[in-house]
Amino acid sequence: MGHRERNQPRDVASAAASVRTTHDSRPTTHDSVARDERLISSALKIRYNPLVAAAGDGAWVIDADGKRYLDFGASWSLAHLGYSNADVRAAIMAQLERTMFAGLVSGINLPALDLAEKLVSLVPGEYPKKVWYGLSGSDASEAAQRLLLMATGRRRFVTFVGSWHGTTEATMALSGHPGFTGSLGGGNVTKIPYPNPYRNPFGGSSERVTDQCLDFLENYLFDTICPPGDVAAIFAESVQSDGGDVVPPPDFLPKLRALCDRHGILLVIDDIKIGLGRTGKMLSIEHAGIAADLVLLGKSLGGGLPLSAIVGRADVLDAGTGVALFTTVGNATSCAAGLATIEVIEREGLVARAAEYGDYLQRCLVQALDRYEIVGDIRGLGMIWGVELVEDRAGKRPNQPAAAKIVYRAWELGLIVYYAGNWSNVLEITPPLVLTKAEIERGVAILAEATADVAAGRVSDEAIAAFAGW
Ligand SMILES: Cc1ncc(COP(=O)(O)O)c(C=O)c1O
Repeated sequence: MGHRERNQPRDVASAAASVRTTHDSRPTTHDSVARDERLISSALKIRYNPLVAAAGDGAWVIDADGKRYLDFGASWSLAHLGYSNADVRAAIMAQLERTMFAGLVSGINLPALDLAEKLVSLVPGEYPKKVWYGLSGSDASEAAQRLLLMATGRRRFVTFVGSWHGTTEATMALSGHPGFTGSLGGGNVTKIPYPNPYRNPFGGSSERVTDQCLDFLENYLFDTICPPGDVAAIFAESVQSDGGDVVPPPDFLPKLRALCDRHGILLVIDDIKIGLGRTGKMLSIEHAGIAADLVLLGKSLGGGLPLSAIVGRADVLDAGTGVALFTTVGNATSCAAGLATIEVIEREGLVARAAEYGDYLQRCLVQALDRYEIVGDIRGLGMIWGVELVEDRAGKRPNQPAAAKIVYRAWELGLIVYYAGNWSNVLEITPPLVLTKAEIERGVAILAEATADVAAGRVSDEAIAAFAGW
């Protein structure tokens, strides 16, 4: 049975009806925005519009007034299966019926073991593997740092400018995203340029951008401020997502792996955002045919519940006992949701579909948006795409206001999409993997209308004043 049939009982209309009925006295979007302003900390907000998500079905979100939005963001690449997958819901309910909580710190639960077995089987590499569980991508990055330092006895890390590995103090310090420049930690982290083909950090053409970035590390930084014998690991994203959905040249990961091997440095691939099928492979490193020493997963892994994982070298994940844990890590409910999520991805062929539909999405985006002078670059892999907005194509100066306005206008027209990037000027398109071709066409048509409106100056600065985004 296909995904859409399974979800038939909760179609969009009934989900919307459950949001508001004729005699409904539940709060409207207007009320909820005011309560949110009054009650919820700004520290956790990156808002692009006043969406109140009251229900969801497939790739659609329904707001508190019953209005439907097609979702091109999947809640920052979390909702791979959309918002109402019947199998994941059933797995969660079945586990809750057994027990409301079963942890992993001081006892064993079966869903954690089942999921670990599955995760180990997915990760390439001919070495003994184990799994560490957390609750959010950030804690996986942080635990990886701690365990790597303990396992290797080395003190340093190398990461990339533009990278986003988490929002704990240690993972902001590990990251190279401009949003984290206020965090001054990370004296042991050396950050190097990411091979961005559209904006070569070394200037000029992008033909040799991988070699330029890696030579800078190996033949300059390693000889000066960052002794390679002191580097425990390099953390990398295969597509640098929050840095602007940058797809590096195909030689990047193989050359990075080779560099690591030359110096006995471990390689950590952060697949928290793009893992589990989004790129058209189950794990992003499969595109490069390499093995990582640790793979980080999160976001989509929990099927909507909090869950993250590190999968990789047993000797690293066993570096200490009881040294990286929270009370709720590896809880049975989240793990049951995780296993069900992966099973649905496999059974419904969503990885191959991401590759196929991703090509279709690219064609639609190019056809609809390439005509605009403010669209500088359209790049992506599978079902992650970035549309980089510029003042003009020749100068390539980042056009942040255009990104904010297009995202806001698209929301008005019924499409959820976010922007990200080192200069906050890249529309990020990471839809649920269950999106249909008709939904791709619909979403791209809205994006094109929003872009046309912004290019023609029809969206005012005042309209977006309350939504700073990034
Ligand atoms: C690549 C990557 N790593 C780690 C994280 C942190 O995950 P979380 O915010 O779920 O803790 C993110 C979040 O956006 C991410 O994109």
